[in-house]
Amino acid sequence: MLANRHSSFDRNPPVIIGGFPLSNDVLVVHGGTPLKGEIRVRGAKNLVSKAMVAAVLGDTPSTLHDVPAISDVDIVRGLLELHGVRTTMSGDQTLRMDPTNVVIAGVDEINVHAGSSRIPILLCGPLLHRLGRAYIPNLGGCNIGGRPIDFHLNALREFGAVIDKQPDGMHLSAPQRLQGIKYTLEYPSVGSTEQILLTAVLAEGVTELRNAAVEPEIIDLICVLQKMGAIIKVHTDRVIEIEGVDRLHGYRHRPVPDRIETGSWAAAALATHGEVFVRGAQQADMMTFLNVYRSIGGAFDIDDGPDGGIRFWHPGGELSPVALETDVHPGLMTDWQQPLVVALTQAHGLSIVHETVYERRFGYTAELRQMGANIQLYRECLGGTPCRWGRRNFLHSAVIAGPSQLHAADLQIPDLRAGFSHLIAALSAEGTSRVFGVDRYITRGYEDFDAKLAALGASVERP
Ligand code: EPU
Repeated sequence: MLANRHSSFDRNPPVIIGGFPLSNDVLVVHGGTPLKGEIRVRGAKNLVSKAMVAAVLGDTPSTLHDVPAISDVDIVRGLLELHGVRTTMSGDQTLRMDPTNVVIAGVDEINVHAGSSRIPILLCGPLLHRLGRAYIPNLGGCNIGGRPIDFHLNALREFGAVIDKQPDGMHLSAPQRLQGIKYTLEYPSVGSTEQILLTAVLAEGVTELRNAAVEPEIIDLICVLQKMGAIIKVHTDRVIEIEGVDRLHGYRHRPVPDRIETGSWAAAALATHGEVFVRGAQQADMMTFLNVYRSIGGAFDIDDGPDGGIRFWHPGGELSPVALETDVHPGLMTDWQQPLVVALTQAHGLSIVHETVYERRFGYTAELRQMGANIQLYRECLGGTPCRWGRRNFLHSAVIAGPSQLHAADLQIPDLRAGFSHLIAALSAEGTSRVFGVDRYITRGYEDFDAKLAALGASVERP
């Protein structure tokens, strides 16, 4: 069994020569072995990191259970510590956060986290409420589109924040208590909805948010905030109403399981002709994915007992091509797109995938083509409704002709989800691949993935 090598935010960046890092940040994958066995998923990365930010709003400590050991959690923890929040992680991955002495952090110290994540932007509201000012470093996150923050900044200004953008980051201040707003998002953005929730809960008066995102992780964040004393009503048609309160206290919470990680292992089971039981996975938030999985020809079985999960497997026979479109919840999540595309390279016929959330989320297909996949990208909105990226020169639709026998290659991971897809492709390919950048990218969102691969019988090694 391989050791847990999840990375930490203070790890040195790898030396890159000739396009590939020379450090040991590489996994050698001997493909062709079906993944078989059981792994467990913990709390969703995209809830845990936000719940950690929410803890800053409380005037007593918070406790978050089932926190995954991933580097994105390390980054947020580092930022909280810099702002005086004392954090302790216990052996069972329970995180305790004590925000009773929140302080202003130094710009240089905060800038250490520049470019590492998108979470720092969500600290705006909590820090403005607690300290009257905030400094936010330049953001990071995966290079899958322009990823502007205009919705965040427009809303914050309406709440009454003053924003001073500098080359290295943003200084914000709240000359007086922030005031509730009426705001309609141009697009149901996850991060902007969270920004408005985290700011509105302690603002004076009522906030009405229209065209809000309603992803399960957002509903879970609302549960966290409600535990803290917030009053939030989720109406029909993406309308959320928040009644500002004067104080919030700490919470104790067990997060929703990570549905992106669940979908990633499910796709790996399909692409490698294997069988993976994902303990901790829950059906309700996976419904759209499960429908697609079944349409392709994948099989699954749900155990909804107390420590249950979902078993995913390739039932034999041919996989079927499908036409897919990613969308905001309850549509097909964009983060499921890349692992599913790898599985679709094994389907018999033409599949169409229209990516409507991000404009540049097919970059990783170049490597899949290098491995023998037959994937063509198009600028048009193929097979579905026109989206924001149509006629704007973005290659955001893909046609996948399968099945293709994938063969081994040297792969450079470009981002988190694409990285896991490269790994799936290497696992299902013939021969030995080298996947570079695993510690840098995959450990941002996949806990203990070396150990999980070993538990599933993958033939992988660290050189
Ligand atoms: N957008 C704007 N302006 C804004 C904010 C967003 O135009 O101010 C646009 C974006 O450019 C994008 C769309 O709105 O085209 C959706 O972006 P959203 O704000 O929903 O994404 P996010 O909050 O930055 C989160 C997840 C992503 C996930 C998306 C969509 C986190 C930390 N990240 O990003 O997860 O893909 O929602 O569900 O929660 C990942 O986990 O690997 C990941 C990329």
